[in-house]
Amino acid sequence: MSNDGKIDDQMPPAEPQAASDTARMRKDSPLHNPWGWVKLRFGLGPILEHFIFHRVPKRVPWYFSAGEALLLLFFVLLGTGIFLALGYAPTPEDSHRSVESITLEQKLGWYIRGLHYWSAGLMVVLIVYHMLRQVLVGGYQPPKEGTWLVGVLLFCLTIITSVIGYTLRWDERALYGLTVALTMLNYIPVIGDELVRIVLGGEAFNDLTLRRLYALHVLFIPLFLCGAIFYHIYLVVLHGVTTYEERKRDDIDTAHEQIKLHERLTESEKTGQDFFPYQAVKVTTFGLGAFLTALLLTIFLGPPELYPPANFTEDSIPQEEWWLYWYSALIAYLPPSIAPAFYVLMPLCVVSLLILLPFLDEKGNRGARRRPLAVASVVAVIVSLVWLTGIRISSPWMSWPRGELAALPKGTQLTAGTSKGHVLFTQFGCINCHPLGERGSGVGPNLAGYKFRLSPSELENYVHSPPDGVAMPPYPGRRTPQELKSTVEFVLVTQTFTRKY
Ligand code: HEC
Repeated sequence: MSNDGKIDDQMPPAEPQAASDTARMRKDSPLHNPWGWVKLRFGLGPILEHFIFHRVPKRVPWYFSAGEALLLLFFVLLGTGIFLALGYAPTPEDSHRSVESITLEQKLGWYIRGLHYWSAGLMVVLIVYHMLRQVLVGGYQPPKEGTWLVGVLLFCLTIITSVIGYTLRWDERALYGLTVALTMLNYIPVIGDELVRIVLGGEAFNDLTLRRLYALHVLFIPLFLCGAIFYHIYLVVLHGVTTYEERKRDDIDTAHEQIKLHERLTESEKTGQDFFPYQAVKVTTFGLGAFLTALLLTIFLGPPELYPPANFTEDSIPQEEWWLYWYSALIAYLPPSIAPAFYVLMPLCVVSLLILLPFLDEKGNRGARRRPLAVASVVAVIVSLVWLTGIRISSPWMSWPRGELAALPKGTQLTAGTSKGHVLFTQFGCINCHPLGERGSGVGPNLAGYKFRLSPSELENYVHSPPDGVAMPPYPGRRTPQELKSTVEFVLVTQTFTRKY
């Protein structure tokens, strides 16, 4: 107040006042009350009150806290990532060698690489779980639309960083994965082209490409993620978690009613409790469980295998990460005519649907009984993911469709019929397992120059339904007899030289 000074001048403060001032100053000094001082001077009070010392409804089970587990995994990724960055060389010539050196030479390097890898994989799984759970309880409905949309952004960034991380190994499959990812990017309307050019640092793979991927992986996306995660958590706390009562009651229709109920539950002695320490313990348990799982996976399975260095001249190996297995199985079972478009368009559709969800389903009911469609969708998604992953695991083939035709051995002359076989050989993914050429082998033998014991019609049978125990997929009903014939004819005309090894 402006006249404070005057009053002080006229009447000096009484003794008790001075004493309480001194007490306050002592309380406020970094020596006597370091924690109080830090809290005051760094303005931590409101932050802590918002994030830690707030009240929450009581009946929130432990499995609702996947979000906190994700946060913990993110910190693990930052920590291990910093260590990896100390040894990694983001140039095409040295990157592969540097990953090898981290894994084999650096002390505990294999462990840090493994932990980084498994934490990232678990993060992808948990983020899907986290989202499906929100779908079950209408976690995107008013007033939580913003929380959900920031969450969708987090989901996309997590997937993108994971895919880029995979390419940083710069081994054979990295280049293939990158091609697939860029094809997808290219399909984004209007800006797709430009995005691809920005990532590549030019029109094609060049020395800048790896540097750009590296900068995205270690700088841009993590920075963005840090901000978005903080904001997401701020919103989660602000609007509260979906409670048991909200899911039980069926008279909650508007955001206003939802907030009122939430406040009532949180403030009441009976149904509310302090987040710290009660809920904090629950939340941390889930996080520690996730961390422990990553630790164990690293110890038992180790870091991912490093393939031979990437090179731009030979075919690279298509081999997706395990958390994308379901996707290749899905592609493999689609008719070849729509598979290539599908594998690019599906992610775009999924993300669009996630963004639209709060606007499509905004009624505000949260109970499973009043949301049968949501429950059915979640069950269908989980069953499909598990089932397709199972198919992919039990058939060790690789099925990413290819845009360009398989390279031919020198001197191969194709007729109209065998040209068709050439296309089929590529489309059916035969080339992914069977190289054609003077050198090289894949999961299956190099078919050019291979001495067949079988006659052409026996070969057709073989390709139609390979014998048990052969790691080659049967494609029942997916090839006509004519297609089968062309494919085998094609295989036979590639045999322009005899096998040397
Ligand atoms: C997942 C990998 C994989 C795919 C995809 C695959 N094969 Fe095979 N194929 C194999 C393996 C492994 C063998 C070797 C089996 C053995 O003899 O041990 C084989 C064997 C063969 C043989 C040799 C039969 C013989 O005489 O021994 C032919 C021919 C053949 N494949 C053609 C094809 C054609 C055509 C396609 C595409 C329609 C195809 N393969 C797709 C893995 C694959």
